[in-house]
Amino acid sequence: MNKFYLPLMNDNIDKADVNSVIEFLSQDQIPKLTNGPKVVEFENEWGKWLGTKYNLFVNSGASANELTMLALAHIVGEGEIIVPPLTWISDISSVLFAGHKLVFVDVNFNNLSFDIDKLKSAITSETKAIFLTHVLGINGLTDELLEICEEKNILLIEDVCESHGTTYQGCKVGNFGFASNFSFYFAHHMSTIEGGMISTNNWEFYQVCRALRSHGMTREMTSDSMKISIAMDNPDLNPDFIFLRPAHNFRSTEINAVIGLSQLPKLDIKNKERVENFNYFLENLDKEKYITEINSHGNCNYAFIIILKDNDFTKRNNLERDLRNNGIEFRRGLSGGGNQMRQPFFKQTYNDFSNFANIEHIHNFSWYVGNYPGLEREKIDKLLEVLNGKG
Ligand SMILES: Cc1ncc(COP(=O)(O)O)c(C=O)c1O
Repeated sequence: MNKFYLPLMNDNIDKADVNSVIEFLSQDQIPKLTNGPKVVEFENEWGKWLGTKYNLFVNSGASANELTMLALAHIVGEGEIIVPPLTWISDISSVLFAGHKLVFVDVNFNNLSFDIDKLKSAITSETKAIFLTHVLGINGLTDELLEICEEKNILLIEDVCESHGTTYQGCKVGNFGFASNFSFYFAHHMSTIEGGMISTNNWEFYQVCRALRSHGMTREMTSDSMKISIAMDNPDLNPDFIFLRPAHNFRSTEINAVIGLSQLPKLDIKNKERVENFNYFLENLDKEKYITEINSHGNCNYAFIIILKDNDFTKRNNLERDLRNNGIEFRRGLSGGGNQMRQPFFKQTYNDFSNFANIEHIHNFSWYVGNYPGLEREKIDKLLEVLNGKG
């Protein structure tokens, strides 16, 4: 049996986090455990860490995506949302569930975000938002993209679910859009076991999200003027039970928030290790064999990014065999398994990928491999040895 093992992920939760939960639960008077003061405390601490005014803790990153798209539909109406085919599935499903129309735009190899020329030509009078994904800790923003949003008056939504701590021009991503989404899945940069956050500086959006987090109930809003105005528009309804629009229960619990409060102070230290690991990896990866011109400036890498240069299925299969034989776990296709337009439910909708050469290449010839705090340098060296063909 192969003794060497490089896992895809490593659980972030440590003994201190567990102890903080035990302590919390050991109070004489057991506190109410659903969404309460600990959730608010975690939201406030998160806001201090990220720099956003309003922050809403939810039960997953996918919930953050869905709530964001629902709130957007409520505020600006349903319309076209531009998404990359390189993203997690919830960035796609959230758009569909909220009644918007998906518009896919190919990505580029420099920052794994939108191909800017293609993005420009995809914008129409119906475009409501650009839903950008920062892929595996690589900053996906450019000045040009921000200028396009500003000039065309298009909202930018940042999916930062796999990029906590990534920066653009010295500022943490998640601060540039109208709203941003984070995930605290067990192996992400930080964890609440499961969980997510919506961050924004927009008061109205935040209020709508507060209602939609709890089935759409307007009594969850903290704006009296908004609550009163909705109640006055609906005099036949009990103000305690006014539902803004159909929604789910996206709330988390006090226990998850306690873990978040214990995890957050460790985030920057852990992120430093991720960055050091990734920069070392990228520097030493064979530049002849792999696409290494990824702009790693400001990265806060989630997992090592490997993109073969050649469109060569034999090379691909040999590499996968070598990774397997050497005990290295991997996933093909980077975030979400490559081209989302190829998923079974889209078979009738999308079948011409001629305008999607880059995601098609990523779909077939790329992988991610685990990078996490505590990962030993020898393991990175072994990975490089296998990838560079000296394994
Ligand atoms: C880019 C992106 N968006 C959304 C999600 C969904 O987050 P969660 O797993 O917490 O639902 C993920 C999860 O990995 C992700 O990587």
